[in-house]
Amino acid sequence: MQRGKCTLDEIEKHLIENNIEGSFSSADMEVIYNHVHNLLPGQVYLEIGVAAGKSLSTAFFSTCEGVFTIGIDYVDCTDGRRGAFFNLLTVSQIIYVQADANVFAKIWNYPIDVLFIDGAHDDMNVERDTLTWMPRVKSGGVILYHDYNQGNAEGVKIFVDRYHKKFEVLNGNIAKVIKE
Ligand SMILES: C[S@@+](CC[C@H](N)C(=O)[O-])C[C@H]1O[C@@H](n2cnc3c(N)ncnc32)[C@H](O)[C@@H]1O
Repeated sequence: MQRGKCTLDEIEKHLIENNIEGSFSSADMEVIYNHVHNLLPGQVYLEIGVAAGKSLSTAFFSTCEGVFTIGIDYVDCTDGRRGAFFNLLTVSQIIYVQADANVFAKIWNYPIDVLFIDGAHDDMNVERDTLTWMPRVKSGGVILYHDYNQGNAEGVKIFVDRYHKKFEVLNGNIAKVIKE
């Protein structure tokens, strides 16, 4: 499957065939696809929280050659079953960072076009991820919060409602903020 040249249905089929799982629905995939497939070479998608790689794989296959697709997770996502998604990817075109996102941010100063926040889901950690990474998003860039409406992850909603004056909820579960 060629990166940037496939439909969302093809990406989903490809992930299912390769057992790439995660609590990341078809509707969630669609939101990622819609926000990244027009990115240009040199632009940046960065996500906090890779786990088994479903969102990162979705972003990777939805973007064209040359878009930086970066995932950060402090767990080793290349290991065992979690690492299955690496077999799908041209690893040279994706950057996986095993680190605490808030530590790694200290050495990251390249402007981000799309930031996907899906790390720890309690409101204190969502706040920390936001305060650390939002300054690194371009003006006019997008911040997407996964699990805005997830019963067992109420911290995302608590934080987004408290902190952001303007946001919209996409497909019921992803809060979208445009960086001013
Ligand atoms: C809900 S999972 C991510 C799911 C993934 N986006 C998907 O598509 O299935 C959350 C992940 O965030 C990671 N995580 C939580 N806090 C983190 C932090 N501060 N830095 C890096 N990774 C973090 C956890 O290790 C876990 O793998």
